[in-house]
Amino acid sequence: MQIHIDNLHFTYPSGVQALQGVSLTIEPGEQVAIVGQNGAGKTTLVRHLNGLLLPSSGSVRVGDWLTRDSSVAKLAARVGYVFQNPDDQLFKGNVRDEVKFGPTNLGFTPEQIEAQVDEALTRLELSEKAAVNPYDLTPTWRKRVAIAAILAMDTPIIILDEPTTGQDHHSVQHLAGLIQHLRQQGKTVIAISHDIDFVAENFDRIVVMGQGRVLLDGPAETVFAEEEILNSTYVQPPQLARLAGRLDLGQVVYTVDGFLAAYRQRNAPVSPVTPPISGG
Ligand SMILES: Nc1ncnc2c1ncn2[C@@H]1O[C@H](COP(=O)(O)OP(=O)(O)OP(=O)(O)O)[C@@H](O)[C@H]1O
Ligand SMILES: [Mg+2]
Repeated sequence: MQIHIDNLHFTYPSGVQALQGVSLTIEPGEQVAIVGQNGAGKTTLVRHLNGLLLPSSGSVRVGDWLTRDSSVAKLAARVGYVFQNPDDQLFKGNVRDEVKFGPTNLGFTPEQIEAQVDEALTRLELSEKAAVNPYDLTPTWRKRVAIAAILAMDTPIIILDEPTTGQDHHSVQHLAGLIQHLRQQGKTVIAISHDIDFVAENFDRIVVMGQGRVLLDGPAETVFAEEEILNSTYVQPPQLARLAGRLDLGQVVYTVDGFLAAYRQRNAPVSPVTPPISGG
């Protein structure tokens, strides 16, 4: 399902102009990371996708629905939004009820609901915590409950707002696996993250925001080459990209495999020239 954002402006009632002309098209099944300094407008932007916020001017279309003409309840069938802070999202007395709430509201059959809830709990390694009150879990696990609650809705579009914040190494690896799984399922994933290494490893398209605008949009190797623009919004290229720059590897690399390939290529011995066979 395509997302089409056209010249979106948004001003909060306080007068803050959080978005100042954002245009963006995201194709079905694309996996996009949004990065940029605090206050750049990332959360404000994604909150427009499920209708939590409506444009001051410009438009947002999800498939054939304009968000301006669609209720939040209707858009919930297409766009699942995992809040930046799980405490703003979670409100049920136990994990299972929390995860069940979304699919129940979307009107799936009881069998589908059970299957989707079980699948989401298993996927987030929460099965054994199903009866626990989310507020008795650590913030790391509450984040997982928030993700499971959205996965269980089986929407074609999933938004993750800062999914790696406060997560330990195991959870970040687990999240990478989850994004891989969603990719295979053909889901559109939009993730906001300050973890640039995570972004570099897991996303093919990166949107850089600064002061309510899109500054860069493209594949990692193009985006990470724009050091000056990245600096302007306090985004540092991944450590590997910076190291490759220092080593003069001559190309923008940002994954371990890419780095090793470039490093080996530079250090490869020059192949000897075969001497011409002398006649006579
Ligand atoms: N509810 C609100 N009322 C008024 N202003 C707000 C509100 N939410 C955000 N803002 C302002 O809008 C701008 C964009 O904020 P937003 O939360 O979208 O940024 P962000 O890129 O998600 O930042 P962060 O990385 O800190 O989450 C900021 O100037 C922020 O202070
Ligand atoms: Mg935010």
